Amino acid sequence: MPATRALVPLVLLMALQVLVCSGACVEVDSGTEAVANLGFKLGCISCKMRGEVKATASVTWFFQASDDDVSSELYTYAEREGKVMDPRFYGRLHWNGSKNTEDLQDGSIYILNVTFNDTGTYQCNFRRMLIYSNSKYETNPNKTITLKVVPRVTRGMASIMSEVMMYVSIIGLQLWLLVEMIYCYRKISAAGEEALRESALGKNWRRDGFSLAPSSSSSSPPSS
Ligand SMILES: *[C@@H]1O[C@H](CO)[C@@H](O)[C@H](O)[C@H]1NC(C)=O
Ligand SMILES: *[C@@H]1O[C@H](CO)[C@@H](O)[C@H](O)[C@H]1NC(C)=O
Ligand SMILES: *[C@@H]1O[C@H](CO)[C@@H](O)[C@H](O)[C@H]1NC(C)=O
Repeated sequence: MPATRALVPLVLLMALQVLVCSGACVEVDSGTEAVANLGFKLGCISCKMRGEVKATASVTWFFQASDDDVSSELYTYAEREGKVMDPRFYGRLHWNGSKNTEDLQDGSIYILNVTFNDTGTYQCNFRRMLIYSNSKYETNPNKTITLKVVPRVTRGMASIMSEVMMYVSIIGLQLWLLVEMIYCYRKISAAGEEALRESALGKNWRRDGFSLAPSSSSSSPPSS
C-alpha cells in the first residue's frame, strides 16, 4: 500500500532523530581554523566502543605552540572539574565537553578569545576506565588538532570596492533612466503643445513630424 510505503522514510527519520536526541555518540572532527579575537571550540569526541559498558574518564589537553619545542599540559578535566594548567590560557578556557557525568565522551574545550599565539598543535588525551562486572580495562584514545589562527574575516578591499561599484552603478542607472524619462516626457509634451498650437492657427498639423493626433493619414509624408 502506498500509505505504508510513505511511512517508511518518516519512521526512519524519526528513528534518526531519536538517535541524535538521545545523544548517540558521533566522533566529529574538530575545526582547525580559528579567527583571532573570537571564541573557538577545540572539539574532541571519543565514543565508547560499547555504549552499555560503564566507564569513567578524564581528559587532559596538551599544547605545543608553533615556536615551542615540546608540548606541555594545557587543561585537565577530571571528576567534573576543569583546570587550566598553562598560564597563557588562564581565564580563557571553558569546558565544552560532557556535562554532569564522569563517563566523558566529549572532551571539547572552548578558547574564549583566540590570539595568534594560540597557533600550534593541540592534543586531547582521554583516560578511560571501562568497568566490567569483574574486571577493569583502561584505554587511552587521543586526538591531535593542528590549529591555525586567521585574522578576523576582513573582506578584501577589492570585494568592498566591487560592492560599492555595484550600488553606484545601480543608482547611476536609475538616475539616468529618470533623467531620460523626464527628458522624453518634456519633449513629447512640447511637441504635443506645438501641434495643438499649430492646429489652432489653422495650419495643417500633419506638417509636424511629431504627430500625436489620430493617425488617419500620418503614413503619408509631410508635404511642404
Ligand atoms: C580579546 O583579546 C584582545 C587582545 O588581547 C582584546 O583587545 C579584546 O578586547 C579581547 N576580546 C574579548 C571579547 O575579550
Ligand atoms: C562552549 O563554552 C562557551 C563558553 O562557556 C559557550 O559560550 C558555548 O556556548 C559552549 N558551546 C557548547 C556547544 O557547549
Ligand atoms: C604572543 O607572544 C609574544 C611573544 O611570546 C608576546 O610578546 C605577546 O604578548 C603575545 N601576545 C598575546 C596576545 O598573548
